[in-house]
Amino acid sequence: MSTSEGSPTVERVPDSAISVFGDSWPKLEQFAAMLVAEGELRGLIGPRELPRLWTRHLLNSSAVAPFVPEGVAFADIGSGAGFPGIVVAIMRPDLDVHLIEPMERRTTWLEDVSRELSLSNVTVVRARAEELHGAAGYDAVSARAVAALKKLVPWVGPLIAPGGRLVALKGERAAAEVIEAEKMLRKHGLRATSVQEVVVPGTDEPTRIVIAERVG
Ligand SMILES: C[S@@+](CC[C@H](N)C(=O)[O-])C[C@H]1O[C@@H](n2cnc3c(N)ncnc32)[C@H](O)[C@@H]1O
Repeated sequence: MSTSEGSPTVERVPDSAISVFGDSWPKLEQFAAMLVAEGELRGLIGPRELPRLWTRHLLNSSAVAPFVPEGVAFADIGSGAGFPGIVVAIMRPDLDVHLIEPMERRTTWLEDVSRELSLSNVTVVRARAEELHGAAGYDAVSARAVAALKKLVPWVGPLIAPGGRLVALKGERAAAEVIEAEKMLRKHGLRATSVQEVVVPGTDEPTRIVIAERVG
């Protein structure tokens, strides 16, 4: 059954979604249903987001999953309503996923979603990324719509373990943001290895992913 039934404002599930999400489809559909039922009411997503829930948010978030190595400790910074953190946790049960988010309303939501979907690989951490410096280290860290790279790097750099990577979902300015953040990346021992342009089936805009690795 489509999650869009009964609500003309919710985007129809793109045909591609079932193949993109594969085995994780049932939980993904459950997450989408929770967002449709409660997302706006609980102040997690604006009314303009439901008509683009799949293309802009759920499918877009899925682009991160292939860039996270197998079985590692993974953190999503500023998860908000669960993008991309919950989507990655659903798609990648092999990961130990920490969702780092300072706002209580959002952490309560992320905990509710994890419980409802029985996501045993998720830990919700109520904190700003900077508050965890020296106390936490991850092999892969993602962030979407949290801050420009130059501002983001000082927050997330110290959370990346040696040999680990930043996987930042970015828009059209991804390459320009890398240039603007060059000094910051260097200062935090990160080397921007690439800007990947990913076209997720069913979306019309490419997603850009900045990969930066901690050398040594
Ligand atoms: C615009 S929202 C984006 C949410 C989600 N990542 C998305 O793509 O829809 C930015 C989120 O980052 C969180 N945030 C802002 N500064 C942060 C920080 N220093 N550490 C962790 N989270 C932060 C906010 O509370 C908010 O939930």
